[in-house]
Amino acid sequence: MTDGKTVPPSQYATVIDPDSHATTSGMTGHGFYDANSTTQWNAIEAVLPTLDHAAKTVPLEDSQVITLADYGCSEGRNSVAVMERALKTLLPRTSMPIQTVHSDLPTNDFSTLFLNLRPHGQSVFGSNRVFSSAVGGSMYDQLRPDSSVHLAMTFNAIGFLSRRPVETLPGYIQPNGPSKVRNNGYVSQENGLAFKKQANEDVEAFLRVRAKELVPGGKLLVQVFGATEDVCTSDGIYDVLNDAVLSFVETGEFPKGAYDHYYQPVYMRRLSELTEPVLDPQYETAGLFELEDTKDYEIAVPFVDQFKENGDLKAYASAYTNFFRAFTEAVLANALSAVPGKNGLIDRIYARAEELLRADPDLYPFRYAAIEMLLTRKD
Ligand SMILES: C[S@@+](CC[C@H](N)C(=O)[O-])C[C@H]1O[C@@H](n2cnc3c(N)ncnc32)[C@H](O)[C@@H]1O
Repeated sequence: MTDGKTVPPSQYATVIDPDSHATTSGMTGHGFYDANSTTQWNAIEAVLPTLDHAAKTVPLEDSQVITLADYGCSEGRNSVAVMERALKTLLPRTSMPIQTVHSDLPTNDFSTLFLNLRPHGQSVFGSNRVFSSAVGGSMYDQLRPDSSVHLAMTFNAIGFLSRRPVETLPGYIQPNGPSKVRNNGYVSQENGLAFKKQANEDVEAFLRVRAKELVPGGKLLVQVFGATEDVCTSDGIYDVLNDAVLSFVETGEFPKGAYDHYYQPVYMRRLSELTEPVLDPQYETAGLFELEDTKDYEIAVPFVDQFKENGDLKAYASAYTNFFRAFTEAVLANALSAVPGKNGLIDRIYARAEELLRADPDLYPFRYAAIEMLLTRKD
């Protein structure tokens, strides 16, 4: 018990282990991520035709069990929907049992995931040939036996870095730096390069372990938020969070030392940065996969469109804040772990962000760009 109310354990309790190949303990749990991730679903929806193609062409011969794995599944609403889509193509293609594997960090809210997988005690997939399981572990580690996965996928997740490449980021709270519109901070060139390098090494690590897990000819669909020529998905969200945090640095409630140390370890890649470790011979993983398909794209953001339609600023500020609270809260809580009364402070930081959005929404425009590649494991 803190602040007179029960705090869900996954929300505040976990201190992120630096050896875990992860820089977050997961999304805000107890259904909060599921309830605030329609934008991420829109980003997934845009690559479903590519998933259909992968499900149609992946070789299924010679296997007693067909395995599909999703890395970074969170609480599972979007993970279940994506597996449902793949199963539509796969079930008619085989008489073998199919296993869906939903994987995320050990500190993820797996209870909500399991409830999503077996609502009313029965498989959500509605087939007696589909068996589901969950695996806790970092996606940068091998999590399945060699040559055991047919179709691997990850959505809106590989932007979360495996480690913090710099100790402090004193000028801003996210590696890509502030938007041009708000321009409220800085990231030095040296730090920017350290994050870029880490992001490339993470793709390499991810590909190395997936290459082991996949059967020859197996498919790997990698989709993640990122940046294009004119859109960067960090713009807006981290500007408003940075401004909100800074207002508590000013009052002294958020210690300056903790601010310098605090950043959200997510990186917005360009498509070329995602494909580099597949194609560039300087990476160990070059040559392991055939690059079948790539794209970068922008999707409609539901709360932005609704605001354009109805002008309801209060609802906009609330949906916008909940959207980024779901994926930033665990890291913010970790940054404040030594600060007394941090739970109340976290609530006030997000309330402040909402206030700032209501006061001047034009300072924090938000657009969602994403990148995708489909790979085939070479023999
Ligand atoms: C924004 S959520 C995406 C969830 C879901 N795939 C979707 O698209 O809605 C990112 C997920 O990646 C997970 N994640 C972050 N770092 C990870 C790591 N190193 N290994 C496995 N999962 C990780 C988080 O715990 C979180 O559940």
